This record gives sequence, C-alpha cells and structure tokens, in this order.
Amino acid sequence: MRMPYAQVRPWTIAPLLVVVIAFVAFSLPPYLTFDPARSRVPVGDAVRGYYPLLVAHVIFGSIALLTACLQIWPWLRTRFPDVHRRTGRIYVFAGVLPAGAIGLIIGALSPFGPVIRASNVVLAVVWLTVTITGYRAARQYRIADHRRWMIRSVVLTLSIITNRVWAVVWVIALVPQLQTTFGGNEALMVQSIAGLSGWLGWVLPLLVTEWWLDTRRAPESPGASPVPDRVPGQAAAGSRA
Ligand code: HEM
Repeated sequence: MRMPYAQVRPWTIAPLLVVVIAFVAFSLPPYLTFDPARSRVPVGDAVRGYYPLLVAHVIFGSIALLTACLQIWPWLRTRFPDVHRRTGRIYVFAGVLPAGAIGLIIGALSPFGPVIRASNVVLAVVWLTVTITGYRAARQYRIADHRRWMIRSVVLTLSIITNRVWAVVWVIALVPQLQTTFGGNEALMVQSIAGLSGWLGWVLPLLVTEWWLDTRRAPESPGASPVPDRVPGQAAAGSRA
C-alpha cells in the first residue's frame, strides 16, 4: 500500500540530494572563476558573449537543480507549504526561466554539432513551456495540474544528470570505434556522443514520466498538496494535463 505523503520521512530526499550536490560541486566551480580557459565547453571560436552566457546558464541551472530537490520533497511540501511556495518562485524565476532562455541561445550555438543543437533547442523550449504551464496552474489553484506539469519540469531539470550518464556510456562504447565506425575522425565521434547523450538524456526520462503519470493511482490523501484540491471530484475531472 502507498504511504500517504504526510507520513513520508524527511530523509527520503537524501539520495537524490547527494547526487545533485555532487553534480553541482563538480560542474559549477570552474565557471565561478570566470576564466574561459577553465570552461569544459570549448569557447575559443565561439561567438562574442558566448562565455558569459554559458557562465550565467550554469549558475541559474545549478539554482534550478538544487531548488528542484526542495520542491519535490514531500515532507517539506506538506509541513512547510510557505517554504514550498517561496522556493518554487526561486526555482521558476532564478532557475528554469533564465537557465532555459540562455540554454536556447547557447544551445543553438553549440560547438558540438547540429544533432545536439537540435536537442538543446527543443529541450529548452519544452522545459520553459512545461514550467510556465505548471506555474500558471499553481497561480490558478489547479493543484493537480500544477503537480503533473511540475513533475515534468523537474524531470527535465534532472535530465542534465542523465545526459552526463549517457555521455559516459557512449564514450565507453564509441571511443574504441574511432578508427572503424568514425574513420579516425575525432570531431565526428565527439559530435555523435554529444548528440546521442543529449537526445536520450531527456526524451527517455520524459517518456517514462508520461507513462508513470498515466498509470499511477490518484493520491489517497488530500494532504499531498500544499493547497488541497477544492473538491476531489472536480479536481479529478478538470486536472488531466
Ligand atoms: C534542461 C535544459 C538545458 C539546456 C537546453 C541546456 C543547454 C546547455 C548548452 C547548450 C550548453 C553548452 C554545451 C553545448 O553546447 O552542448 C550547456 C552547458 C552546461 N550546462 Fe546546460 N542546459 C540545460 C540545463 C542545465 C541544468 C539544469 C544545469 C544544472 C547545473 C546545466 C548545467 C550545465 C553545465 C555545467 C554546462 C557546461 C558544460 C560542463 O561543464 O559540463 N544545464 N547547457
């Protein structure tokens, strides 16, 4: 039987938080030096203004990742709904919106080739759209809708981590094929790894999320949301996102 949210223990978020903090601790510091030479993305030939945009993207993206953990933490949501609302605004306005808008620009300029450029641009547009839709639903007190859209938003935020997992998988699988499949062309291999990791990194988690949202049972307790649905029957009828 599923445990009502109010009974969920505070530490359930710990494994995710550890992964997210480790990711941010690894990813963010080189960009806080504001030294282009320390960028993990080659910025030498990039258009003017690319590097400051990349730094801003990484900072806002880190805010989105850290606040995403707080937003999906059932214990915090049910015990401290005011904190959920405040950190939710930070997630949207100091995280996803600026990181996504900048991701759209630097995504189209990616030095890693056309396949990852397409993935970045589509991902940025979907990320911004589902987040704005979820925020609007909260403002209109459509809490069931809000939950579903924000679950999608957080999955896309976390997809930066699954992206890196796929990159490791493809490096292991494709580097030995440099002389065969790629005819010794290293740039082609790097672009293939970036493109595969980019698309698989977000499309697969989003598909699994859609399946999960469609098959899971409705919450057993109205305490699941910071603001309870007004009338359960109405919420269910008008809440399919
Ligand atoms: C979900 C939408 C996102 C999009 C469309 C996006 C797009 C991009 C793009 C285009 C780049 C430059 C590299 C390239 O050309 O491929 C980049 C780099 C980077 N992004 Fe994002 N990003 C997203 C989310 C995030 C999030 C949530 C974080 C969290 C910290 C993040 C952290 C980084 C980091 C650290 C880099 C620099 C590369 C590195 O040092 O590994 N991004 N992103």
